[in-house]
Amino acid sequence: MTIKEVQDEILRLKKENDVCILAHSYQNHEILEIADFTGDSYALSKFAATVPNKTVIMCGVRFMAETVKMLSPEKKVILSSAIAGCPMAEQMDKELIEGIKEQYPDYTVVAYINTTAELKTVCDVCVTSSSAVKIVKAIENKNILFIPDCNLGAYTASQLPEKNFKLLQGGCPVHAAVTVEQAKQAKQLHPDAELLVHPECKPAIAQMADYVGSTSGIMEYAKKSDKKEFIIGTENSIKNHLQYECPDKKFYVLSKGLICENMKNTTLVDVLSCVKGEGGEEIVMDDETIKKAKKCIDRMIELGG
Ligand code: 13P
Ligand code: SF4
Repeated sequence: MTIKEVQDEILRLKKENDVCILAHSYQNHEILEIADFTGDSYALSKFAATVPNKTVIMCGVRFMAETVKMLSPEKKVILSSAIAGCPMAEQMDKELIEGIKEQYPDYTVVAYINTTAELKTVCDVCVTSSSAVKIVKAIENKNILFIPDCNLGAYTASQLPEKNFKLLQGGCPVHAAVTVEQAKQAKQLHPDAELLVHPECKPAIAQMADYVGSTSGIMEYAKKSDKKEFIIGTENSIKNHLQYECPDKKFYVLSKGLICENMKNTTLVDVLSCVKGEGGEEIVMDDETIKKAKKCIDRMIELGG
């Protein structure tokens, strides 16, 4: 089958079987084309609560599908590729954070949404890269225990000097691998380009950037900007999507290594099996976990607007 034939079959079956397809912006172009909604983690979470269909297929990684399930527990939620996890989400477990909370009882625990549902059950509020500054600012408590991404935590802290942050050593292995040397080289090679980076990159890289923001933030900035050239400091798919959307501008990668293998696991053929009701993995969560973990997602949406 050609790509177009697989896409047409997915579109036909999704209508027939009352399925909604959500796709994170890091998915490949041919998957974004057949999705009902695409965006960053925050936009996907907000949309997930309003989906009218009885089945939702999440083309992304496991914590994203878990978030959809928490927000729409009555729906059948399928993760398009059963092996697509986010390594950062597995870095800290519930027991570790419970222990740290005992040491810092007067801190509000802020969890990046890239965490497991189990870990969310012991956290106070979730944030995403696009909403972290706004949400932490709105928290009354001055003391913030930010987990697990120390780079996003450091960026958020740099924007909110009035708060007292405690960070732990965790983060995205893909973004955190970018070096200052690579950023310097990219800037030398493209002196007229603006550097746009995701806050999961190290603080030293964020400090060199013209703009720091989520995947959607980076895309919006590049689309609206009068500038013509951009170095993209997030997963390399974003550079490709932008090139399609803005053919008159030039986009370069910050590092050839900025590839999230987990996000790249999903293929169109996987999505086809999911709409047939055969592939992927159905997200199953017990009511108690949903009830406890959902609280910090609800709080995120309440504070994030
Ligand atoms: P966004 O919130 O920018 O979509 O980030 C999700 C993610 O996993 C980035 O690595
Ligand atoms: Fe997780 Fe990093 Fe991949 Fe995002 S890019 S899903 S944080 S491993």
